[in-house]
Amino acid sequence: MMKVERLLINYKTLEEFKKFKEYGMQELSMLEELQENIIENDSSSPFYGIYFGDTLVARMSLYQTNGKSNPYFEHHQDYLELWKLEVLPGYQKNGYGTTLVEFAKSFRMPIRTNPRMKSTGFWDKMNFEPVKYDMARDKGENPLIWHPDMDGEMTSGETA
Ligand code: COA
Repeated sequence: MMKVERLLINYKTLEEFKKFKEYGMQELSMLEELQENIIENDSSSPFYGIYFGDTLVARMSLYQTNGKSNPYFEHHQDYLELWKLEVLPGYQKNGYGTTLVEFAKSFRMPIRTNPRMKSTGFWDKMNFEPVKYDMARDKGENPLIWHPDMDGEMTSGETA
């Protein structure tokens, strides 16, 4: 069974992160903060992941954003930013991505994500939609959103 875990910031996790394509500034600054003792070993990170044996095979970053300062949804609701969803090659199309997205949905808050290229089919299946009014498109982003109300439209199992 797939278990979603909150990832702790330590040298082992950061080493696992190197296998993911979207390894970047965020990971490098975590490493630096760890080395300079700005953050403690094993402090919790905004990342959640799934292990297969000892290997981290899927991960996402998830954090709550204040809807008042970032009014993305109606009524300026707080929402979750889902970033860096990625499943390692060799483990893709086995349900890891779905398990992580369902975990994010279980908080019953709106979610915003910035999909990677060529993953549109996946996000369609997850019931995410392009935003109608868009502030971020100008910045070259193509955000997708999901709202708990959109759950009723889930049709998995109903398809022929
Ligand atoms: N495009 C279209 N559909 C996709 C897809 C994609 N890139 N990835 C998965 N799907 C579909 C699956 O076939 C599955 O459909 P089904 O329910 O009809 O069988 C459904 O989405 C759920 O798939 P799941 O197994 O949960 O997806 P995953 O664990 O592979 O996670 C990604 C999806 C996109 C997060 C993951 O594949 C990934 O990180 N990919 C690398 C980056 C990328 O976007 N690659 C695209 C190909 S170049």
